[in-house]
Amino acid sequence: MIRLSRKSLTALALVTGLGLAGAAVAAVNARAVIEAREANFKTIGKSMKAINDGLRADAPDMAAIAGNAATIRGLAPKISTWFPKGTGPESGVKTEARAEIWTDAAGFAAAARRLEPEAAKLEALARAGDVAGARAQVRMVGGSCKGCHDKFKVD
Ligand code: HEC
Repeated sequence: MIRLSRKSLTALALVTGLGLAGAAVAAVNARAVIEAREANFKTIGKSMKAINDGLRADAPDMAAIAGNAATIRGLAPKISTWFPKGTGPESGVKTEARAEIWTDAAGFAAAARRLEPEAAKLEALARAGDVAGARAQVRMVGGSCKGCHDKFKVD
């Protein structure tokens, strides 16, 4: 039988306790990170919907479309910072992020980099009042969303 002194038992309890606390902290952090990025993607999704709906009008409100394109343009370069290690499916927190985000980090970063220039082009076309140009460009923006989602997001 292994005999542990009172001292080593206390040390063991302390280490185990700290380990559990550490895991709990990590889980809380993962949840906070995941909820924050989902809120950001909801903002991106709302902007995209407003753009698509807006461009269907006979006389689209191009200032509103430019504003929504600017929202996407502003958030796009931050996307790759929203996925620190430990915030994937292994966190146990509900997320649509696929493990490939971390196993193919270069591919994910490349997919993220495609969005900003497309959103910036849409914003410029909208500011110039180019309805036909904006209608064509919104498809390029949507293609950047889809390009990433197909590979890195659960359906
Ligand atoms: C570089 C990759 C990438 C790009 C680009 C991207 N997304 Fe996503 N998106 C994701 C991932 C990954 C998730 C899942 C996040 C999670 O659940 O933790 C997501 C989630 C979402 C969600 C769901 C949010 C929620 O939880 O309700 C919406 C809506 C969304 N994206 C819209 C868009 C739109 C619109 C675009 C383009 C304008 C876009 N995304 C571009 C990777 C991307």
